[in-house]
Amino acid sequence: MKILFSASEMTPFAKTGGLADVAAALPKYLARLGHEVTVVLPRYYSIDRGELEFAFGNLGVPMGPLGTLWAGVYRKALAENLTVYFIDYEAFFGRKNLYTDDDGFSYPDNDRRFIFFSRAALELARALDFRPDIVHANDWHTAPQPIWLNTLLRDDPFFRKSRSVYTIHNLQHQGIFDRSALAYLQLGQEHFNPRELEAMGALNLMKGAIYHADKLSTVSPTYAREIQTPEFGFGLQEHIRAHAYKLRGILNGVDYDEWNPATDPYLAAHYDRGNMEGKAQCKADLQERMGLEKRSDLPLIGFVGRFAQQKGIELIAAAMHEMLHLPAQWVFLGSGEKWAEGFFGDLAGRFGQVGSYIGYSEALSHRIEGGADLFLMPSLFEPCGLNQIYSLRYGTLPIVRAVGGLDDTVENYDPQQGTGDGFKFWEPSKEALYHTVRWAVETWQKDPGAIERMRDRAMSRRFSWERSAREYEALYRAALEVMR
Ligand code: ADP
Ligand code: GLC
Repeated sequence: MKILFSASEMTPFAKTGGLADVAAALPKYLARLGHEVTVVLPRYYSIDRGELEFAFGNLGVPMGPLGTLWAGVYRKALAENLTVYFIDYEAFFGRKNLYTDDDGFSYPDNDRRFIFFSRAALELARALDFRPDIVHANDWHTAPQPIWLNTLLRDDPFFRKSRSVYTIHNLQHQGIFDRSALAYLQLGQEHFNPRELEAMGALNLMKGAIYHADKLSTVSPTYAREIQTPEFGFGLQEHIRAHAYKLRGILNGVDYDEWNPATDPYLAAHYDRGNMEGKAQCKADLQERMGLEKRSDLPLIGFVGRFAQQKGIELIAAAMHEMLHLPAQWVFLGSGEKWAEGFFGDLAGRFGQVGSYIGYSEALSHRIEGGADLFLMPSLFEPCGLNQIYSLRYGTLPIVRAVGGLDDTVENYDPQQGTGDGFKFWEPSKEALYHTVRWAVETWQKDPGAIERMRDRAMSRRFSWERSAREYEALYRAALEVMR
């Protein structure tokens, strides 16, 4: 199949979260299955042009009232059947960050920026004469693509045989704009209705994509069910339920070339199942780097992630006072909401058993996976989540709230049966979090044998991209059967 895959981020070019990892891995594995994959990404000005090859300079992108805008195109071939194209347009992408200014406020022209990008990707396919069987769009940024394929471009001979697949990585961000943005989409007011693009008087791109896409997916089976309920649906639960017949939950995989404690170049020592000695060295190295006492008698609890409400940071903050009384050390790596940057930064200054790094660090994220004993991920919702899967591979037992992908990937410890590879809680309360962390800390201290066996089970689990890519392949085939 010819697959046109568009996303707003992709490792290693531009990343704020897991979408970037998926946009790098899934196309790679689809290409390995023999498909011809074209990935399209904005050329943010943080991406060095020197690394790319100039393709051409006159891609016309119709933008309604703005007329036709002319973009440059760069490319980078990653394999014979896998090329990434970059849309260069300074007025939209010549900025420091991807979506927000330094204070965390969304850029006011995000509607134009990503409607433009979505259209540019389709016009690029035309310019390359790459007739996609599948147009795979991701999250709100590229939601216009499935909308257009079923409206504006429905009778366009170039796209007549193309079918759309739309993946929801995070339902919290829906691409909600003033209805005037319809003009950039070049869609008439007849599409501004509560079945298609309208939600509470505003234009909702994700809602429109859910309506118009031929097939839908999200990144874990449990999240696929959860988003049909009021607790997790962010107001779209009824809408999603109406379209659930075309929805599938496909768990993300992990790139084990990059996340492997036996070869990880960031680690002070290597280790693997059956040869765990290196892990103690990784712990000592992490303690030293984070200014913690080198205690091998205390469990070290790690956190890596965006400081966003989604990640349960408010729960952690609420329970932290009590958790600090537990015999444990802590390491926090993250950035995002300002109060949380202040809170977690401050903890390290005030309590000797806490280390924190406010910012983004690939190296430290690997060292935390390698050096910590337990990994904390108490998310309020989690479509898939990658860090808990990395943690399993590194024998760093996850403490998670049983939602979405966290529930699908971590198996709760059962001391009677001698099963499980992590510690789970259900209720989103500071009490539930506290007691689960305490349970993990006590198990670590009183039953090292049980911890060792849990580690072994955790490290033997695999979430391969090959398996996920095959599930997407099946979804694509189902999309191709949709009649127009
Ligand atoms: P989300 O996409 O919701 O942020 P995921 O768990 O899917 O959550 O993916 C997050 C990715 O971003 C992981 O690869 C994680 O290691 C990385 N990450 C998040 N915050 C940081 C940080 N401060 N430093 C380094 N890596 C980070
Ligand atoms: C989103 C979700 C995360 C998921 C990632 C990749 O950012 O928050 O849970 O792992 O997308 O699909």
